[in-house]
Amino acid sequence: MSVRLLLLLVFSLEVFRCELSKEKAGSVISAAKTLVWGPGLEADIVLPARFFYIQTVDSSGENLTTSPGEKTFEVKMVSPTEQFTRIWIQVLDRRDGSFLVRYRLYATYTDLHIHVLLKGKHVAKSPYILKGPVYHEGCDCPQPSGSVWEKNMHCPESFAQITRDLSLHPSVDPDQNAQEIPKRFGQRQSLCHYTIKENKVYVKTFGEHVGFRIFMDAILLSLTRKVRIPDVEFFVNLGDWPLEKRKPTDKLHPIFSWCGSNNTRDIVMPTYDLTESVLETMGR
Ligand SMILES: *[C@@H]1O[C@H](CO)[C@@H](O)[C@H](O)[C@H]1NC(C)=O
Ligand SMILES: *[C@@H]1O[C@H](CO)[C@@H](O)[C@H](O)[C@H]1NC(C)=O
Repeated sequence: MSVRLLLLLVFSLEVFRCELSKEKAGSVISAAKTLVWGPGLEADIVLPARFFYIQTVDSSGENLTTSPGEKTFEVKMVSPTEQFTRIWIQVLDRRDGSFLVRYRLYATYTDLHIHVLLKGKHVAKSPYILKGPVYHEGCDCPQPSGSVWEKNMHCPESFAQITRDLSLHPSVDPDQNAQEIPKRFGQRQSLCHYTIKENKVYVKTFGEHVGFRIFMDAILLSLTRKVRIPDVEFFVNLGDWPLEKRKPTDKLHPIFSWCGSNNTRDIVMPTYDLTESVLETMGR
């Protein structure tokens, strides 16, 4: 072996050793500097499964970018008014130095305390105290004010797509729609006429294949448990194709669909697989 090669080897080993020790010194996790944030730390953000994040930070203030081990943090939830809480908690290692904590309540609790622990020590601002009632998914506990609910949920001011789709319908005549839409699409399509009155959901179906209404029913029922919805009527298309093919200058019928295209005027909303996965996260 030449001297040159030997030196090269020794140098590379040295570099490797330095890298190793740097990695080791840097990976002392700081409970105080680690970051914890997310909607699951706010009582008023009522979701079927609530969630928040943990970003591991070391003692020098650097974010870890690789997993510190999936059992690094322990998350516990207690309520001072209950001896046992029925809450399913998952701490998911995202393998980039951060964790997703999700939990589902099976009852409503008051003043829920969330403990995020690193080797038994509180992390960041833990314990997080969610004051007042913390409702579970099944609780029929609607917030009476829609605008308060939107604020609680940190909804954006508007959604461009909703504004765009609805702009074709500056006004609607529910009685006329109730006559015309079934006549125009009725038995050949799968349509549901939904009415929400006094925060109760009513539905009339048209067509043979209306089994998929269960997904629409489920999201509407979940919403009416969370917020009082103003009285409203609308048609939902359960089929795989959009229906309103008329030009924007012709008389249009407002129809909500799970799909759309540039050549159709249906009002597009989140598909049933999305709403289903939101509603059923940690559900079974
Ligand atoms: C660390 O991660 C958090 C959360 O993703 C991020 O907001 C912050 O900017 C990161 N800090 C640094 C120094 O990269
Ligand atoms: C639909 O319209 C958008 C926006 O005008 C355009 O970017 C897109 O290419 C169109 N898609 C098709 C399939 O024509």
